[in-house]
Amino acid sequence: MLSFTLNGLRFKNPLILASGILDESGETMLKVIEHGAGGVVTKSIGRKPREGYENPVIYELPYGLLNAIGLANPGIENYGEEIKVAKKGGVPVIGSVFGSTVEGFVYLAKKMEEYGADAVELNLSCPHAKGYGMEVGTDIALVEEIVEGVKKEISIPVWAKITPNTENLVKIAKAVEGADALVLINTVKAMAIDIEAGMPVLSNKFGGLSGPCIKPIGVRAVYEVYREVEKPIIGVGGITYGRDAIEYLMAGATALQVGTAVYLRGIEVFSLIAKEMEEWMEKHGYAHFTELIGLAQVR
Ligand SMILES: Cc1cc2nc3c(=O)[nH]c(=O)nc-3n(C[C@H](O)[C@H](O)[C@H](O)COP(=O)(O)O)c2cc1C
Repeated sequence: MLSFTLNGLRFKNPLILASGILDESGETMLKVIEHGAGGVVTKSIGRKPREGYENPVIYELPYGLLNAIGLANPGIENYGEEIKVAKKGGVPVIGSVFGSTVEGFVYLAKKMEEYGADAVELNLSCPHAKGYGMEVGTDIALVEEIVEGVKKEISIPVWAKITPNTENLVKIAKAVEGADALVLINTVKAMAIDIEAGMPVLSNKFGGLSGPCIKPIGVRAVYEVYREVEKPIIGVGGITYGRDAIEYLMAGATALQVGTAVYLRGIEVFSLIAKEMEEWMEKHGYAHFTELIGLAQVR
């Protein structure tokens, strides 16, 4: 009911761990795999080790999470072992990378391939890291060059993760159509203010909003891009229950990623969502989840 192949990679279910949640170390990725994830995406890794921002970097809201971790990561040269450990889980391991130039992305992607990653996800969308992520990801000419540059240099699949923080979503999606799949969405740029202190809560002031409150934005993004782009879309943003997964599939997603729900429902969330999806499909007479892809598209 839930197994499928994407870009030649076999997944036991379409529920993949999203970048940035329990995925900096190989050991925690293995734990997530043991709890039913169909695949895992690593934390976004850059060229050099980065400490990220000062605390507070995460703020819990009743409807989601606001974070500005600042792309803290151990650096690509120290990351080979983590991929090796995660690969023991027997599901696809996707190496997420961030950079600011074509050459930077190519270097990182080649390293991920060398380490044994099954695919590379290009982070073109983090909303709170100066000089990276969304700042790169809203430059339409640059994202096209990055994807083309990386595609030429590696033979594993390339996924492009794009930002919802733009009115040019479809233009950006078309610019990265050379990728093997598109991942949408990253977090939504946002902020919170501590009214007693009279100052922003996060040390970085701005952060990325994730969780249930961004699901309608993610669903809309997937729906819009599905109509314009031929490549498979991986939907992410607020998927917490089986019914959220079904909604993304109906909008046009081929696979899904789950992040904040790991905080909300625990590490078992992957097997819980898989079970809820199966129950829903059985009740509604669907034999396989792929029958749902794009079902809600109104032409
Ligand atoms: C604490 C935290 C750290 C994140 N770090 C990354 C990251 O390093 N790279 C990236 O591409 N996305 C990162 N994200 C974004 C998630 O991968 C995902 O796109 C977003 O949170 C929406 O999905 P969700 O609502 O299921 O969490 C992070 C999200 C959170 C909450």
